[in-house]
Amino acid sequence: MYGIGITLTQFMLDEQRRYGASGHFTGVLNDIATACKKIASLTSKGALVGVLGSANTENVQGEVQKKMDVITNEIFIEALQNNGNAAALASEEMEEVYNLPENKPRGRYLVLFDPLDGSSNMDINVSVGTIFSILRAPNGVRNPTEKDFLQPGVTQVAAGYCLYGPSTIMALTAGNGVNMFTLDRDCGEFILTRENVQIPADTQEFAINMSNERYWEEPIKRYIKECVAGKDGPRGKNFNMRWVAAMVAEIHRILTRGGIFTYPFDERVRHDSNGGKLRLMYEANPMSFIIEQAGGMAHTGYERIMEIQPTSLHQRIPVIQGSRNEVDLVVSYHRPNDD
Ligand code: AHG
Ligand code: MN
Ligand code: MN
Repeated sequence: MYGIGITLTQFMLDEQRRYGASGHFTGVLNDIATACKKIASLTSKGALVGVLGSANTENVQGEVQKKMDVITNEIFIEALQNNGNAAALASEEMEEVYNLPENKPRGRYLVLFDPLDGSSNMDINVSVGTIFSILRAPNGVRNPTEKDFLQPGVTQVAAGYCLYGPSTIMALTAGNGVNMFTLDRDCGEFILTRENVQIPADTQEFAINMSNERYWEEPIKRYIKECVAGKDGPRGKNFNMRWVAAMVAEIHRILTRGGIFTYPFDERVRHDSNGGKLRLMYEANPMSFIIEQAGGMAHTGYERIMEIQPTSLHQRIPVIQGSRNEVDLVVSYHRPNDD
């Protein structure tokens, strides 16, 4: 009751000893944790510190940026560019790769991030998050370019998210399971609160933006229709539905009580975005790594997300993630000649 618990730093140093990880890797995670603490502080203060509302600018995706999209991006840059742990950065909010200033020391890792996920939730005081993915920089490259970042999800060294909800929780994987840390605001540390998280294989809860139904492909229409039919339909059981409109919150719920989250193929963006809304490199891949490490499954319906060879930094793809048996069923509906 009066102890500190295991801090993220302590946990990382233990892992570093156990798996022979480099100090740079622990350093990158520490920099990310610092950024997330600052963001947690700002999100909790909201209007008191003037961070709500629109920035009246557009990002590379043509989306109007919230003030907090811009602020959180700057926080990540500041936290990661000064300590010689990162080699280069890429973000939802920056069109190009961000190379560190010439006078800064270089580390060995490429860090990709969605600094504020679910940013439309900011102004209505609902959960938002941060997503990050860590890749190795190619040897000897001082100023990495986009092509150095275009690695499939299976090569990720680590990935995680931070959920700014009633409490602030970071989930992290470095390929040895998923662990969660809750921010103790009194001592300013992330404390280990859930170890080796596992997603139940079966579920009765789905998350999808139903308003897009008419643009989905047949397999998803069929799957959702069968869920909604409940115990009177072919599934023979009732389903519940949730939609927070922040992927971090949906995935966190799934890591807590199971479920399936999908932003599926959408006919409107078949040609310009591969049918997807969510971004492969800093949304789908890191979340897929976490989901798979927790025993779940992450797919587009046609292929395993983490095996996709990226072709550009901001490319989008359809996403189906969560409880293994449920995602597997959806994937089976995508196979030709399956009834
Ligand atoms: P972001 O705020 O980083 O652009 O991401 C929002 C994403 C994702 O987190 C969420 O699942 C989805 O967009 C919400 O989409 P709708 O607006 O269709 O609900
Ligand atoms: Mn996002
Ligand atoms: Mn975002």
